Amino acid sequence: MSEVRIRPRQVLVLIIVFLVILMMVHRNGKRTCQGPDYLQTMYAQADTLPTIYAVTPTYTRPAQKAELTRLSHLFMLLPHLHWIIVEDANATSPLVTGLLERAGLEKRSTQLNIKTPPEFKLQGKDPNWIKPRGVEQRNLALTWLRNNVDTDRHSIVFFMDDDNSYSTELFAEMSKIERGRVGVWPVGLVGGLMVERPYLSEDQKQVIGFNAAWRPERPFPIDMAAFAISMDLFIRNPQALFSYEVQRGYQESEILRHLTTREKLQPLANACRDVLVWHTRTEKTKLTAEEALLKQGKRSDGGMEV
Ligand code: UGA
Ligand code: MN
Repeated sequence: MSEVRIRPRQVLVLIIVFLVILMMVHRNGKRTCQGPDYLQTMYAQADTLPTIYAVTPTYTRPAQKAELTRLSHLFMLLPHLHWIIVEDANATSPLVTGLLERAGLEKRSTQLNIKTPPEFKLQGKDPNWIKPRGVEQRNLALTWLRNNVDTDRHSIVFFMDDDNSYSTELFAEMSKIERGRVGVWPVGLVGGLMVERPYLSEDQKQVIGFNAAWRPERPFPIDMAAFAISMDLFIRNPQALFSYEVQRGYQESEILRHLTTREKLQPLANACRDVLVWHTRTEKTKLTAEEALLKQGKRSDGGMEV
């Protein structure tokens, strides 16, 4: 019988192959995000980044689930976000609860509700509003935040409409907001312009003006999606709330005037040169065929949640 001799070199090669396989398995197991560098960095630093509380007013209409599904997938990608979703309704809905569960966001979300008083809506007109939207809902979220957030830890508040389009990169930028400050950046497709943006000083550290074409005389002529706020400012300024007493388009100025000045704004998004959020609006869903079905006592979505 011939004897099989194993040489030390072969043993060494085997050990190296084994170690390489082990390293590959380990790396794959640890990988939670395959996105670009800024997203990988966010994952690596998730425990130390400030929590971003995103406040979204929302109301029942045919495209609601589509809009909220889009947003929920952003939240799935971003580990340090907490979603405060405030329904414009007398009760929270199974649609929103189910959506949060389906996205695995139960522990990173808060579901609230408050109905806008009917006197603030003009039904059947376009625009069907005489007063600003989302006021009641955002104020309820602010009360929740003031009562529930651990103020020893730095965190950030962002007012997030349910129909805009947001890049994950915006949230990486928002994480840079310092305590006591309000971060600002450009917003695409708003106010009759391709982009509304702040103008910066030569050293790019201060906001010195804005390019708004619509009501440029506003104290802060920017859209709701153009800024996020360090939570400590809301604690230090308990009077800061949204109000029905101001004209449409003045909500942003109304909240910001209590919290900051133009000079103290913190420019972000590559010195306000990158567009990372767009003020998109979804067209009203046309349901003429559905209405015809309903007249015959039928419907296309029987037993389904659309
Ligand atoms: C613009 C701004 O982007 C909003 O942040 C601001 O609240 C609004 O103007 C205003 O000042 O009225 P716009 O696209 O015109 O937004 O408004 P919507 O997107 O229709 O509404 C803003 C938010 O309020 C949305 O998240 C929407 O779901 C919610 N909303 C709207 C309600 O909760 N109830 C409603 O009846 C209508
Ligand atoms: Mn909108």
